Amino acid sequence: MATSENPGRGTWNSKLGFILAAAGSAVGLGNIWGFPTQVADNGGAAFIIVYLVCCIFVGLPVMIAEITIGRKTGKNPVGAFKALDPSGFGAMIGYWGVLCGMMILSFYLVISGWTLAYVIEQILSFTGNEAGASWFGDLGNGPKNAIFTVVFMLFTVGIINGGVSNGIERATKVLMPFLLFILLIMIGYVLTLEGSAIGVREYLMPDFSLIDMDLTLSAMGQAFFSLSLGMGALITYGSYLKKDQNIMSSATYVTVVDIIIAFIAGMLVIPAMYVAFTQGIAIFGDDGDLISSVSLVFTVLPQLFENIGGSLGLVISVSFFLLLGLAALTSSISLLEVPVAYVIDEHKVPRKKASLIIGGIVLVIAIIISFDIGLIDHFVNIFNEIGLPLGGMMTCIFLAWVWKTGNAIVEIEQGYPGAAESGFTKTWAFFISYICPILIGIVFVTTVLNIIR
Ligand code: PFF
Repeated sequence: MATSENPGRGTWNSKLGFILAAAGSAVGLGNIWGFPTQVADNGGAAFIIVYLVCCIFVGLPVMIAEITIGRKTGKNPVGAFKALDPSGFGAMIGYWGVLCGMMILSFYLVISGWTLAYVIEQILSFTGNEAGASWFGDLGNGPKNAIFTVVFMLFTVGIINGGVSNGIERATKVLMPFLLFILLIMIGYVLTLEGSAIGVREYLMPDFSLIDMDLTLSAMGQAFFSLSLGMGALITYGSYLKKDQNIMSSATYVTVVDIIIAFIAGMLVIPAMYVAFTQGIAIFGDDGDLISSVSLVFTVLPQLFENIGGSLGLVISVSFFLLLGLAALTSSISLLEVPVAYVIDEHKVPRKKASLIIGGIVLVIAIIISFDIGLIDHFVNIFNEIGLPLGGMMTCIFLAWVWKTGNAIVEIEQGYPGAAESGFTKTWAFFISYICPILIGIVFVTTVLNIIR
């Protein structure tokens, strides 16, 4: 069966390979660190409901759009938009994606580095080496951040160097099931502890009065980040997809897996916070709200693990931070793959050289952030909260009004005979033309106004 229009770039070996790689991209810090934090920050289950709506009615259609553009052209985001729009204007969307990918990766590496440092911090703290533990556990420790950022980048580049099926596909096939396994074991344990039932109730009982514009903005931003949308990661992964594979069902699987893992991660983190509370650990800030942001995962949970104590506490804490690190790794490879594929395709640079050049540039920015972690918030504002919805909105507009949904459906039909007549495809075409760009547009404008105000 023919692969992409650009043979020799590599393809996923199997349908499952693509789904796991794309789910690996989607499932990351955004699910295990970001989602529970946002739930805690935004009134529990009310957030989950709005988040679900954003994922299903905006995220899924945009994901289908990105994969279709990638598979049609067999190119990186810049090359893909160029191929579909010879005027060159569309390529701007691709360049924006490449830039966002590099910038998001640079702060993502620093946070990913924290997960590795915390593995050591927990081991030292359990062995009674408090001085060592506090050095590794200090989030603002520049030299330590820089070292772990470099280590994490080396893992990422190592996998990317292996190429599409031997590197990315092979790694995600092992890492993803392992990740789910650790997550489930940990939940099973945490739910046996005193206090977890209150957490489960807080997590699952929605208070609809909390739904407002701010909550909706957070949910939409979280959906884009978590599903890896708006910067061409799924265009790039779609470009390695064989023509006989069904884009609609693959995208649906990836979205569902991402939602489920985020939900399960919340089921671990929120009850764990209430277990910590029962044990006397502070989980409410001065304002009476649950502690959120960075502190949630990196301060409350380690204290809980220390309270559990003994070798059980150690095994649980090391598993948790390894889990976070693994999830981050399968996402960071997709963030790096976008600019690397661009350099390989558009500048005819061999893969290893491309990953070293791009990896080197990103590392310089990441090391600067390592020494000034306050920059993370600014990067999140610009490249994540503005950048991804902007990229997603432009992708919808491009597909619907420049390339046209009819052409996209012809591409979709290759792996899904009869797609044109299906209600799913027709609904998708309507959403991508009207509903998605309008909804993202509202969120985008409001986010920008909030940030500059
Ligand atoms: N989806 C990843 C997460 O939830 O952590 C982050 C991410 C990866 C965002 C790849 C964007 C991207 F292209």
